[in-house]
Amino acid sequence: MNERLVTTGADERERAAESALRPHGLEEFVGQKVVREQLSLVLDAAKARQAPSDHVLFSGPPGLGKTTLAMIVASEMGAPLRQSSGPAIQHAGDLAAVLSSLDEGEVLFLDEIHRMARPAEEMLYIAMEDFRVDVVVGKGAGATAIPLELPKFTLVGATTRAGLLPAPLRDRFGFTGYLDFYTPEELVQVLRRSASLLGVQLTAEGAAEIGGRSRGTPRIANRLLRRVRDWAQVRGSGIVDRSAARAALEVYEVDERGLDRLDRAVLDALCRRFGGGPVGLSTLAVVVGEEAETVETVAEPFLVREGLLGRTPRGRIALPDTWGHLGLTPPRDAPAGAAWQLGPEDGSDEGPQDAPGGSGAQGPTG
Ligand SMILES: Nc1ncnc2c1ncn2[C@@H]1O[C@H](COP(=O)(O)OP(=O)(O)O)[C@@H](O)[C@H]1O
Ligand SMILES: [Mg+2]
Repeated sequence: MNERLVTTGADERERAAESALRPHGLEEFVGQKVVREQLSLVLDAAKARQAPSDHVLFSGPPGLGKTTLAMIVASEMGAPLRQSSGPAIQHAGDLAAVLSSLDEGEVLFLDEIHRMARPAEEMLYIAMEDFRVDVVVGKGAGATAIPLELPKFTLVGATTRAGLLPAPLRDRFGFTGYLDFYTPEELVQVLRRSASLLGVQLTAEGAAEIGGRSRGTPRIANRLLRRVRDWAQVRGSGIVDRSAARAALEVYEVDERGLDRLDRAVLDALCRRFGGGPVGLSTLAVVVGEEAETVETVAEPFLVREGLLGRTPRGRIALPDTWGHLGLTPPRDAPAGAAWQLGPEDGSDEGPQDAPGGSGAQGPTG
């Protein structure tokens, strides 16, 4: 019921579908030119030295290829990959167990590394730098720390929130790759590649149509492709062309810009119920029948990035594009977008908290 076609996360079933589409080498990895070049230098240098690579961190929003790159690091190094994640490491002991079982040269992938427990983080700094952990034996006054040498390994971390990583941990990565949203052209390349792996016939217009609705995110592009393929097989000619893409994505309520039902419900409430805001997040969430956290983490980042929603100290506001996207005309006395952009002169509805020259209505905050 709550399953969203354009959500950026992936569940179990989807992970299986995804692994079939994962690029296995850097040359297969679409886009992210800068990260690819930098990473290939790091890896080539390590290979030339015949030593494990420096530790690597990948940072960026969900669905852009962090896990894929972690696997590529291992395969390019010809090393086995061990996987765990921040949430799975709630005690230093959990991490000690993983680290002490590593083999020389192995790649340890820690997903969502920002969610690891604090004591484990501290153990990790030392392990990364000195290849050593201190295992505490016994309890209380009789406890002793026994240093345990670790084989040289490569840590690959992934995080959607690089800002939450403590500096000492961040600094111990020899290289950080910042992944950015993909251009529509890059998404078309991703789609072509996936279509050929899935044995789906995809036309150029079909690819452009799907790419344009994929929020700059390969995971979403691949997901939409699978749904359009279903439609084409059941209702269409089997070919994923523009009309199949349009018809299928209409069924799934994904619009031309990649907004889905929740996104539109938020914008609709903002404009029609609250005249363009400002309105508080929790009020907005109640009106659309969702948890505030869902609205904030799932719908808002994309809407803010698209310039369809503004976050201000007094609440969420509609921007000029918001009205247009819903096919509405902004009210002449629109308190929100227009006025905010005019700045402090138009003081008619600025509250006391509005710091002068403060947070712009359009500043992406996520
Ligand atoms: N640059 C890319 N080229 C081709 N496919 C990609 C690329 N980046 C991501 N994908 C595909 O998108 C899906 C999600 O990627 P993933 O690495 O799991 O993202 P993340 O770990 O950042 O959430 C995978 O199926 C992957 O194959
Ligand atoms: Mg991942």
